[in-house]
Amino acid sequence: MLPTPDISHLASADYQNVYEPAEDSFVLLDALEKEAEYLKNLGPSVCLEVGLGSGICVTFLGQLLGSGCLYVGTDINPQAAKVSHQTAQRNGVSLEPVITDLVSALSPRLHGCVDVMIFNPPYVVTPSEEVGGTGIEASWAGGIKGREVTDRLLPDVNKLLSPGGAFYLLIIKENDKDDLARVMKSSGFSTTVVLSRRSGPEFLSVLKFVRHSSPKAPDG
Ligand SMILES: C[S@@+](CC[C@H](N)C(=O)[O-])C[C@H]1O[C@@H](n2cnc3c(N)ncnc32)[C@H](O)[C@@H]1O
Repeated sequence: MLPTPDISHLASADYQNVYEPAEDSFVLLDALEKEAEYLKNLGPSVCLEVGLGSGICVTFLGQLLGSGCLYVGTDINPQAAKVSHQTAQRNGVSLEPVITDLVSALSPRLHGCVDVMIFNPPYVVTPSEEVGGTGIEASWAGGIKGREVTDRLLPDVNKLLSPGGAFYLLIIKENDKDDLARVMKSSGFSTTVVLSRRSGPEFLSVLKFVRHSSPKAPDG
């Protein structure tokens, strides 16, 4: 088992502004660990996390896959970009954090280049008016079905992923897995559930999207 990244440099004052890792974060880490062999066999060159928060997820990915890969991450919250850089550095991972809305600043430069993409989005069902902030509220406010932020990213997944690339998305039941699978199928992706876990009132899952025709990662 890979240790969870050290985030002891973050204090409660940081968590006033940046999402504190919680069960959803840890479910994503567990899913990535479960996928470790698959991910290593992909031989990734570029990994991208959308919604860095504390940086714990991309740092974990960096520990899993090593230094032969470029790690890029985005957040709309400038404080998250700052602390995620510290988290990566503290754990020996080199991260390029970018303050931007979803992946705007990376398009089209990274089109077709991203081998592994991860997103633990603001997934909570809230009134639409709560969506669109750049502070801590951006961590959870997901609008209708908790999908308003995620849905804006989906068209970019097809543009960004390399031919054999994989996209991992954390969802709750209310985000409607079957509808997400239908939307992604229309742009050529198949969906599998890597992991599911109940945490209090939330039923969390990590979905994995790969192209129907994507080459299988070589065994190894
Ligand atoms: C649930 S938190 C996850 C943080 C971290 N990845 C984790 O798992 O602990 C969602 C993150 O997405 C960021 N976010 C929300 N809307 C965004 C947007 N439009 N573009 C980029 N990041 C966004 C939030 O600021 C927050 O850091």
